[in-house]
Amino acid sequence: MNEFRDTRVLVVGGAGFVGSNLVHALLGLAPREIVVVDNLLSSDASNVPDDPRVRFVFGSINERRVLEALPRDLDYAFHLACYHGNQSSIADPFADHENNLLTSLSLFDALKDRRGLRKVVYAAAACAVAEKVYGHAQPTTEEQPVSLFHDSPYSVSKLVGELYGNYFFLRHQLPIVKARFSNVYGPREILGAGRWRGTVHTVWRNVVPSFVWRSLAGEALPLDNAGQTGRDFIFVEDMARGLMACALRGKAGEAYNLATGRETTILELATMINALTGNRTAPDLRPAREWDRSGNRFASTEKAKRELGFEATVDMGTGLERTVEWTMANRPTIERCITQHSKMMAQMAGALG
Ligand SMILES: NC(=O)c1ccc[n+]([C@@H]2O[C@H](COP(=O)([O-])OP(=O)(O)OC[C@H]3O[C@@H](n4cnc5c(N)ncnc54)[C@H](O)[C@@H]3O)[C@@H](O)[C@H]2O)c1
Repeated sequence: MNEFRDTRVLVVGGAGFVGSNLVHALLGLAPREIVVVDNLLSSDASNVPDDPRVRFVFGSINERRVLEALPRDLDYAFHLACYHGNQSSIADPFADHENNLLTSLSLFDALKDRRGLRKVVYAAAACAVAEKVYGHAQPTTEEQPVSLFHDSPYSVSKLVGELYGNYFFLRHQLPIVKARFSNVYGPREILGAGRWRGTVHTVWRNVVPSFVWRSLAGEALPLDNAGQTGRDFIFVEDMARGLMACALRGKAGEAYNLATGRETTILELATMINALTGNRTAPDLRPAREWDRSGNRFASTEKAKRELGFEATVDMGTGLERTVEWTMANRPTIERCITQHSKMMAQMAGALG
């Protein structure tokens, strides 16, 4: 049975990387309407599908006019807005607070009395709850204790977003499910998308799109700590399926890891990407940065398997191949988004050099 048929769905942050992939996946399931709310702070409008069932509301979910215009009869809501990403949040903690945390409070408060609402899925982050380990990491489970000491305002906001979700669940029975994302990669993550956010990481977002872009240009991929840091990389289409599984089968109040359960080192990742693009330039192996506490981690997938029936199915070889293909096919859009920040990037390079 297709439980999304004829439903009305809200996707906050739906122009973003994961949000737009979710919107595309939902469209295949015959919804009545998908309302996308996005202020294009870290995304490009080209990600929003041109489809009569998609209504794009340009603005912040913190704005009263946006909140008041949300349809009364929403069936599902997905909250994927954030202030992207860790470094930008360190450069401007107040912008992070407004777009990464206040967004959660505004949305949950606006939805708290909607009795017809079946589920609200919140994009939580594995990086905010995982223990920082070096060498042999154990799988992070949903139950393990969480540190109250965090490296970035981004991480603080993601964690407090979960706490707000729990509060609105306890006090108002908001049917919140917290989807804990591991590292997502794949098509529609556009380098440089959106407005300047204070650091070069406006352009160089996550490791996969940055490595694919540099590798296609024949550059040496920079590997801090000789690439020994490890992450759990999940393909974005798997992530979209996992989010929908959270909405349909997640238990209100619960958290679920959406992950593969496998750790890949950054050196392995770079080697795979270079093989796909034919880049023969050897990676640039660098020592660990003094302040770097990123370590090794991957998530336990047992609970998601057991309670959601969710398992990631796309292997990294296939996922990366599709990411490289998408990047080559969308080069003009990516170039446009990168070059809009040329002036700021040059100023930063000047200041550093
Ligand atoms: N991509 C990952 O690997 C990853 C990992 C952990 C958690 N997450 C979480 O998943 C969600 C989606 O991440 P993404 O990688 O697609 O990032 P993204 O930057 O592509 O998407 C975030 C979207 O939110 C929008 N946005 C920002 N402020 C807003 C506001 N005030 N009102 C409305 N929209 C606003 C942005 O313009 C953007 O479209 C985020 O909440 C992020 O914290 C992602």
